[in-house]
Amino acid sequence: MTRGNPPANEPPIEGARVPAGAERPIGVFDSGIGGLTVMHALMERLPRESLIYFGDTARVPYGPKSRETVTRFSIENVRLLTSYDVKAVVVACNTATARALPVLREEFDLPIVGVVGPGARAAVARTKTGRIGVIGTYGTIDSGAYRDHLLALDADLEVVSRPCPLFVPLAEEGWTDHPVARQIAEEYLAPFRDDGIDTLILGCTHYPLLAPVIAEVIGPGVTLIDSAEETAREVATLLAERELAANESEPAHRFLVSDLPDLFLRVGQRFLGGRIGGVEVVAAGSA
Ligand code: DGL
Repeated sequence: MTRGNPPANEPPIEGARVPAGAERPIGVFDSGIGGLTVMHALMERLPRESLIYFGDTARVPYGPKSRETVTRFSIENVRLLTSYDVKAVVVACNTATARALPVLREEFDLPIVGVVGPGARAAVARTKTGRIGVIGTYGTIDSGAYRDHLLALDADLEVVSRPCPLFVPLAEEGWTDHPVARQIAEEYLAPFRDDGIDTLILGCTHYPLLAPVIAEVIGPGVTLIDSAEETAREVATLLAERELAANESEPAHRFLVSDLPDLFLRVGQRFLGGRIGGVEVVAAGSA
């Protein structure tokens, strides 16, 4: 029998049996700060879980880097998280998922969830016309990971993908409702109008912060897919299936970075609604 996490805001069940090892934290990593959108979704959906987030701020961005480099960094990041005895890892970075997830699953003997599969499944569930757009970093789009996932789910889909690299610095700068954001969104997204898509996957951690401006520019007939929400749902299902769900009344969250903790704290509060207590520095690639 499987046991799911109770819904958010429900008090923990006193004395409920938690299987051995289930109280261990979930590890989450991203190239930097953007994965906090996934962290936010995990905190909302899994309020009884302790989470350890690692942002590789010394080596960000991953988007313009090669498959080999992103894979090496990702292996080092999972190794770092396993040194904290995590029970599962969430790759909260679209580029790292797109470039490295299959290798990570081969390398490590623990459940590893990425953001691409959940986003693709959500898009397929929503589209009515079968025309889906994907936006992400150069690395994510170049990998073809979203396209492959989508076509594996339904070979008749029409998938149009385009990189939108400037959305990342806009989100980090907090310029999410700025005329410049609107102008750049217009430049990137106008071609999708001719493609006649009805669904657009926000295939990068930072893009949900720009969702209002993206929605405004792309128009009301297009549904935006935020893979963070879908990923959190998938993690909840996985924990329930493997009897790994924790039942903490006061879960503890830790935030690790490989550089610039003060900047992470300042910008990160914007992503996470002020929920970062403190930030620890660890060496990138040291584990
Ligand atoms: N986290 C990356 C992603 O989701 C965006 C930032 C980067 O390029 O590292 O693709």
